[in-house]
Amino acid sequence: MLNLSKAPLIDAQKIAKRIGELGKQIGGEYDFDIIVGAMTGSFIFVADLCRAMPRKKTQVKFIKASSYGDSTESSHKVKVSGLDNAKIEGARLLLVDDILDTGHTMQALVKELSAMGAKEIRTCVFLDKPERREVPIKADYVGFEIPNAFVVGYGLDFADEYRTFPDVWTLEEKQ
Ligand code: IMP
Ligand code: MG
Repeated sequence: MLNLSKAPLIDAQKIAKRIGELGKQIGGEYDFDIIVGAMTGSFIFVADLCRAMPRKKTQVKFIKASSYGDSTESSHKVKVSGLDNAKIEGARLLLVDDILDTGHTMQALVKELSAMGAKEIRTCVFLDKPERREVPIKADYVGFEIPNAFVVGYGLDFADEYRTFPDVWTLEEKQ
Protein backbone atom coordinates (compact mmCIF):
# COMPACT_ATOMS: atom_id res chain seq x y z
CA MET A 1 0.00 0.00 0.00
CA LEU A 2 1.18 3.51 -0.79
CA ASN A 3 1.23 6.24 1.82
CA LEU A 4 2.10 9.91 1.88
CA SER A 5 5.40 10.83 3.48
CA LYS A 6 5.17 12.30 7.02
CA ALA A 7 6.22 15.75 5.85
CA PRO A 8 6.25 17.42 2.45
CA LEU A 9 9.39 17.01 0.36
CA ILE A 10 8.99 20.63 -0.78
CA ASP A 11 6.68 22.97 1.14
CA ALA A 12 4.49 25.67 -0.36
CA GLN A 13 6.66 28.53 0.88
CA LYS A 14 9.78 27.10 -0.74
CA ILE A 15 7.85 26.54 -3.98
CA ALA A 16 6.59 30.13 -4.05
CA LYS A 17 10.11 31.50 -3.48
CA ARG A 18 11.64 29.36 -6.22
CA ILE A 19 8.92 30.20 -8.73
CA GLY A 20 9.46 33.90 -8.07
CA GLU A 21 13.15 33.46 -8.95
CA LEU A 22 12.41 31.32 -11.99
CA GLY A 23 9.82 33.75 -13.35
CA LYS A 24 12.24 36.62 -12.99
CA GLN A 25 15.06 34.68 -14.67
CA ILE A 26 12.99 33.45 -17.63
CA GLY A 27 11.25 36.80 -18.08
CA GLY A 28 14.62 38.56 -18.06
CA GLU A 29 16.35 36.42 -20.68
CA TYR A 30 13.77 34.86 -22.99
CA ASP A 31 11.26 36.82 -25.02
CA PHE A 32 8.62 34.30 -26.05
CA ASP A 33 5.12 34.40 -27.53
CA ILE A 34 3.31 31.42 -26.03
CA ILE A 35 3.52 29.38 -22.85
CA VAL A 36 2.61 25.83 -23.81
CA GLY A 37 1.69 23.77 -20.76
CA ALA A 38 1.45 19.97 -20.81
CA MET A 39 -1.87 18.84 -19.36
CA THR A 40 -2.78 18.00 -16.69
CA GLY A 41 0.19 17.99 -14.37
CA SER A 42 1.51 21.46 -15.22
CA PHE A 43 -1.70 23.42 -14.56
CA ILE A 44 -0.73 24.83 -11.15
CA PHE A 45 2.89 25.46 -12.15
CA VAL A 46 1.84 27.33 -15.30
CA ALA A 47 -0.64 29.42 -13.29
CA ASP A 48 1.99 30.46 -10.74
CA LEU A 49 4.87 30.82 -13.20
CA CYS A 50 3.05 33.09 -15.63
CA ARG A 51 2.13 35.44 -12.78
CA ALA A 52 5.79 35.58 -11.70
CA MET A 53 6.84 36.90 -15.11
CA PRO A 54 6.74 40.44 -16.50
CA ARG A 55 3.41 41.64 -17.86
CA LYS A 56 3.54 40.98 -21.61
CA LYS A 57 1.09 39.91 -24.28
CA THR A 58 2.05 36.27 -23.75
CA GLN A 59 -0.47 33.63 -24.84
CA VAL A 60 -1.16 30.47 -22.85
CA LYS A 61 -2.06 27.16 -24.45
CA PHE A 62 -2.29 23.61 -23.19
CA ILE A 63 -1.24 20.48 -24.98
CA LYS A 64 -2.05 16.90 -24.08
CA ALA A 65 0.59 14.19 -24.18
CA SER A 66 -0.71 10.68 -23.67
CA SER A 67 1.21 7.44 -23.69
CA TYR A 68 -0.10 4.72 -25.91
CA GLY A 69 0.98 1.38 -27.32
CA ASP A 70 1.67 -1.87 -25.56
CA SER A 71 1.38 -1.14 -21.87
CA THR A 72 3.02 -4.45 -20.94
CA GLU A 73 6.37 -3.39 -22.30
CA SER A 74 6.29 0.36 -21.73
CA SER A 75 6.61 1.34 -25.39
CA HIS A 76 7.12 5.07 -24.66
CA LYS A 77 5.05 6.11 -27.63
CA VAL A 78 3.59 9.52 -26.91
CA LYS A 79 0.54 10.93 -28.68
CA VAL A 80 0.29 14.71 -28.74
CA SER A 81 -2.98 16.60 -29.17
CA GLY A 82 -4.62 19.94 -28.49
CA LEU A 83 -2.85 22.42 -30.79
CA ASP A 84 -3.17 23.38 -34.40
CA ASN A 85 -0.15 24.15 -36.58
CA ALA A 86 -1.25 27.64 -37.54
CA LYS A 87 -0.80 29.03 -34.02
CA ILE A 88 2.62 27.48 -33.51
CA GLU A 89 4.26 28.31 -36.82
CA GLY A 90 6.92 30.98 -36.35
CA ALA A 91 6.24 31.30 -32.61
CA ARG A 92 8.75 31.28 -29.78
CA LEU A 93 7.54 28.87 -27.11
CA LEU A 94 8.12 28.19 -23.46
CA LEU A 95 7.16 24.53 -23.11
CA VAL A 96 6.23 23.71 -19.52
CA ASP A 97 5.73 20.33 -17.86
CA ASP A 98 5.36 19.18 -14.27
CA ILE A 99 8.27 16.75 -14.16
CA LEU A 100 11.10 15.46 -16.30
CA ASP A 101 11.42 11.77 -15.57
CA THR A 102 12.59 9.38 -18.32
CA GLY A 103 12.40 12.29 -20.77
CA HIS A 104 10.26 10.55 -23.39
CA THR A 105 7.29 12.90 -22.97
CA MET A 106 9.33 16.09 -23.26
CA GLN A 107 11.26 14.72 -26.22
CA ALA A 108 8.01 13.91 -28.05
CA LEU A 109 6.53 17.33 -27.28
CA VAL A 110 9.61 19.17 -28.55
CA LYS A 111 9.63 17.05 -31.72
CA GLU A 112 5.93 17.70 -32.37
CA LEU A 113 6.15 21.45 -31.76
CA SER A 114 9.23 21.71 -33.99
CA ALA A 115 7.38 19.85 -36.74
CA MET A 116 4.56 22.40 -36.39
CA GLY A 117 7.08 25.12 -37.27
CA ALA A 118 7.94 26.68 -33.91
CA LYS A 119 10.73 29.26 -34.29
CA GLU A 120 12.27 28.59 -30.89
CA ILE A 121 11.43 26.23 -28.05
CA ARG A 122 12.78 26.42 -24.53
CA THR A 123 11.70 23.90 -21.94
CA CYS A 124 10.81 24.44 -18.30
CA VAL A 125 9.91 21.82 -15.70
CA PHE A 126 8.84 22.20 -12.11
CA LEU A 127 10.72 19.06 -11.04
CA ASP A 128 13.61 17.09 -12.52
CA LYS A 129 14.64 13.53 -11.66
CA PRO A 130 17.95 13.31 -13.58
CA GLU A 131 18.71 9.79 -12.33
CA ARG A 132 15.72 8.42 -14.24
CA ARG A 133 16.62 9.77 -17.66
CA GLU A 134 16.45 7.36 -20.62
CA VAL A 135 16.85 9.87 -23.45
CA PRO A 136 19.40 12.68 -23.62
CA ILE A 137 17.23 15.69 -22.86
CA LYS A 138 17.81 18.53 -20.41
CA ALA A 139 15.32 21.24 -19.50
CA ASP A 140 16.44 24.83 -19.99
CA TYR A 141 14.78 25.84 -16.72
CA VAL A 142 14.25 23.63 -13.67
CA GLY A 143 12.37 24.44 -10.46
CA PHE A 144 13.85 21.72 -8.26
CA GLU A 145 16.03 18.68 -8.81
CA ILE A 146 14.74 15.76 -6.75
CA PRO A 147 15.94 12.23 -6.05
CA ASN A 148 14.39 9.17 -7.63
CA ALA A 149 11.09 8.99 -5.72
CA PHE A 150 7.46 9.13 -6.77
CA VAL A 151 6.00 12.48 -5.86
CA VAL A 152 2.52 13.99 -5.81
CA GLY A 153 0.93 17.38 -5.19
CA TYR A 154 1.21 20.81 -6.79
CA GLY A 155 -0.38 19.40 -9.95
CA LEU A 156 1.32 15.99 -9.89
CA ASP A 157 -0.90 12.96 -9.47
CA PHE A 158 -1.05 9.31 -8.60
CA ALA A 159 -4.04 7.76 -10.43
CA ASP A 160 -5.37 11.31 -10.92
CA GLU A 161 -5.41 12.02 -7.17
CA TYR A 162 -3.44 14.46 -4.96
CA ARG A 163 -3.08 17.15 -7.65
CA THR A 164 -4.69 19.82 -5.49
CA PHE A 165 -2.15 19.66 -2.64
CA PRO A 166 -0.26 22.99 -2.43
CA ASP A 167 3.04 21.23 -1.63
CA VAL A 168 5.01 18.23 -2.93
CA TRP A 169 4.85 14.90 -1.09
CA THR A 170 6.55 11.56 -1.58
CA LEU A 171 4.45 8.41 -1.97
CA GLU A 172 6.05 5.57 -0.07
CA GLU A 173 5.43 1.87 0.21
CA LYS A 174 3.96 1.17 3.67
CA GLN A 175 6.13 -1.26 5.66
P1 IMP B 1 8.64 10.92 -18.74
O1 IMP B 1 8.12 10.79 -20.13
O2 IMP B 1 9.08 9.62 -18.16
O3 IMP B 1 9.68 12.00 -18.55
O4 IMP B 1 7.40 11.23 -17.85
C1 IMP B 1 6.91 12.43 -17.62
C2 IMP B 1 5.49 12.27 -17.09
O5 IMP B 1 5.37 11.15 -16.18
C3 IMP B 1 5.16 13.49 -16.29
O6 IMP B 1 4.54 14.47 -17.09
C4 IMP B 1 4.23 12.94 -15.23
O7 IMP B 1 2.91 12.93 -15.72
C5 IMP B 1 4.65 11.51 -15.02
N1 IMP B 1 5.52 11.34 -13.83
C6 IMP B 1 6.81 11.00 -13.81
N2 IMP B 1 7.29 10.93 -12.56
C7 IMP B 1 6.26 11.27 -11.75
C8 IMP B 1 6.12 11.40 -10.32
O8 IMP B 1 7.06 11.21 -9.51
N3 IMP B 1 4.88 11.76 -9.88
C9 IMP B 1 3.83 12.00 -10.70
N4 IMP B 1 3.92 11.89 -12.04
C10 IMP B 1 5.12 11.52 -12.56
MG1 MG C 1 2.08 14.59 -16.88
